[in-house]
Amino acid sequence: MSKLIMVSNRLPVKIHADGTAERTTGGLASALEGAALEIEQVWVGWPGGAEEDFEDTEKVRAELKKSGVAPVFLTQDELDGFYEGYSNGTLWPLLHYMVERARFSRDWWEAYRQVNEKFAEVIMEVADEGDQVWIHDYHLFLVPSLLRGQKKGLKVGFFLHTPFCTSEIFRVLPNRVELLKGVLGADVIGFHTYNYLRHFRSALLRVLGWESETEGMWHKGREVRMGVYPIGHNHAGFESVMSQPDFPAILEKHRQELAGKRMILNVERLDYTKGLPEKLAAMRRFLTLHPDKRDEVLFVLIAVPSRQGVKEYDLLTEEVQREVGAINGEFGRVGHSPIQFLHRGFPIADLAAFYALCEVCLVTPLRDGMNLVAKEFLDCQRPEFSDRPGVLILSEFAGAAQELSHSIQVNPYDIDDVAEALNRALEMPDNERRSRIDMMQGRLRKQDSGNWARRFLKDLEKVPDREERVAIMEMKPLAVQLAEEVQAGRKLGLFLDYDGTLRDFVDVPDHAVPDPDLPGLIRDLAAVGNISLAVVSGRPSTFLEKHLGGLGATLVGEHGYRWLDGGSGDWQLFNPHVNTEWKHSIREHLEQVCLLTPGTHMEEKQSALVWHYRKADPEFGAWRARGLLDELTGMAANLPVTVHHGQKIVEISSLQVSKGVAVEHFIKEWNCSLALVAGDDQTDETMIALEPEGVEFFAVKVGKGSTRATYRTDITGMRVFLEALRDELRR
Ligand code: UDP
Ligand code: G6P
Repeated sequence: MSKLIMVSNRLPVKIHADGTAERTTGGLASALEGAALEIEQVWVGWPGGAEEDFEDTEKVRAELKKSGVAPVFLTQDELDGFYEGYSNGTLWPLLHYMVERARFSRDWWEAYRQVNEKFAEVIMEVADEGDQVWIHDYHLFLVPSLLRGQKKGLKVGFFLHTPFCTSEIFRVLPNRVELLKGVLGADVIGFHTYNYLRHFRSALLRVLGWESETEGMWHKGREVRMGVYPIGHNHAGFESVMSQPDFPAILEKHRQELAGKRMILNVERLDYTKGLPEKLAAMRRFLTLHPDKRDEVLFVLIAVPSRQGVKEYDLLTEEVQREVGAINGEFGRVGHSPIQFLHRGFPIADLAAFYALCEVCLVTPLRDGMNLVAKEFLDCQRPEFSDRPGVLILSEFAGAAQELSHSIQVNPYDIDDVAEALNRALEMPDNERRSRIDMMQGRLRKQDSGNWARRFLKDLEKVPDREERVAIMEMKPLAVQLAEEVQAGRKLGLFLDYDGTLRDFVDVPDHAVPDPDLPGLIRDLAAVGNISLAVVSGRPSTFLEKHLGGLGATLVGEHGYRWLDGGSGDWQLFNPHVNTEWKHSIREHLEQVCLLTPGTHMEEKQSALVWHYRKADPEFGAWRARGLLDELTGMAANLPVTVHHGQKIVEISSLQVSKGVAVEHFIKEWNCSLALVAGDDQTDETMIALEPEGVEFFAVKVGKGSTRATYRTDITGMRVFLEALRDELRR
């Protein structure tokens, strides 16, 4: 039976040096606490504190093992560089759009890399074949790819609990490439909102130049799935405390403390992303504009200390304390201060009571991955706890804003907007308050943290296990089968496309020369008595002859326009009467398109014109290509041409020319009883779609995309196949 390995920097409990444990605060910990998954689990994470503070780490490890926790102890130096440094001094502000707060240091990055390796090592110690590993959050971006290939059949998921910022900001990171490649080691990558997913995909495109679909991408021979999984709150946990026999007393105690004041509640970790100074400014504006309400309302600010020791957080605490004092000094009177600042954490039962009793819950982060406080507040709003329903004021920059559309949404930077929203909320009639809550509550209770975790894990489970993945890729059995047939005397024709099949794409097509092993491989195969081999390419004859000539393979250039028997001698035309007069008008048009689209160029072949946009801005290039295709459809309607949209090219070629026609010709000419064609793009489909009579025919699609081929592999798989065929024939 496989198990689930949860991995997060912060464990749901913090272990003190004396061995006692304390519940930790933060959305990640509280959501996972409520997930209650019915599957065997091991949790890998940092137990809190520095390794040096523990007298006997082995003892703590053994103790934690009993409750399914595998600790990753971190030294003070590692904490400085990895936790306070790179994770919270670089990544956290950047992912939350606060570039000016982000600091960069090579030493921090080094520590981040090393600690990610340390996490991967601990995971490998506890992982067994076929386990699911679920990695959480920005501290561990590199772990997914560190796990790749380490153990059979591991399914690796990654979930980001913060926003993923726009690629324009992400690009600022000096280590952007390593971070993106690191996370792509996962099989499933999850985000709270579609926007974060969109930004991640655009970072892949802008930083790595890699294209993806909303559902995911094909990477190193496997599928990386991407998805949107909005996290929910711990509904069961709140439900449970609210149904305890002591809850009415807790509620009553806090009701008494309020002494009839209308509570405006704010609950958060004390973090600059939560916008507390801006919130205080809005409170000041509200109190200034509404003197009549100064005595009625009580702002209760629960701000749980967080990341103490990180400079920005310490400065923020001082700033907030100063401003709270100033507002109370200005607007308070004997017996009443408008703001109660509670700088500590509370047990979940007290939080539930505060949520139940407050009239307004003010959730105005400047940026927040999701924000669970908003959801917890709505859940705890029940008629049996308070006569007056509460109102949620929610920042439009919190991930939760997309789901909680019946809240009052504000721009937290706009102090007047927030002050007005406060007044509007206080004035809102009860029936409107209730109906807004009702509309949001039902959905939240169903979409709780357990539901969120189960949805993610269900998708992770669907990842094909290793055996199945190998089945998609494994081309060796076909090589063995064909080798046997050839040895038994049958004649095999091999028809191989070049770019994207025998060689990867690069920015400059002329640089895509064969790697050192390829010519030898082609020569060996072409030398086998019962094999005839043709490289069937869209490339011009000069390129093919220069790099693949003289190897014994027949070369077919320009998508089947001309060919060179055995790779030497004179090039011949399949059809000497091909009409190329059309080139004149199309050439002019393509020249214009090149001028208007930086990074693109036109290539001229005897029978075709090709517009290349691989080096253009990827989105601009793709947009221009779509426009060009539209234009060409009109222009080419009466011309003897076909228009083809390939890998970063648009090609206009003579109608009478196709790879399929060329392959059909050679199958007959060579008397093949077996034939294999392999290619990666649409032009190759003309050979893939052949059904030559009396010939056993094998068609291989290399890479993604729709096809009529029965086999699918990637460039590496293709090479494995050709090498295996050669080796089998040598036996
Ligand atoms: N929380 C808590 N004790 C407190 C205050 C808050 O356990 O005294 C919890 C709160 O219930 C919520 C979490 O901290 O589940 C905060 O999560 P959120 O998503 O709002 O923000 P994050 O801290 O993850 O940025
Ligand atoms: C956010 C992050 C979590 C983190 C939590 C508390 O919710 O997404 O990964 O655990 O804040 O921060 P801390 O630094 O104390 O772990």
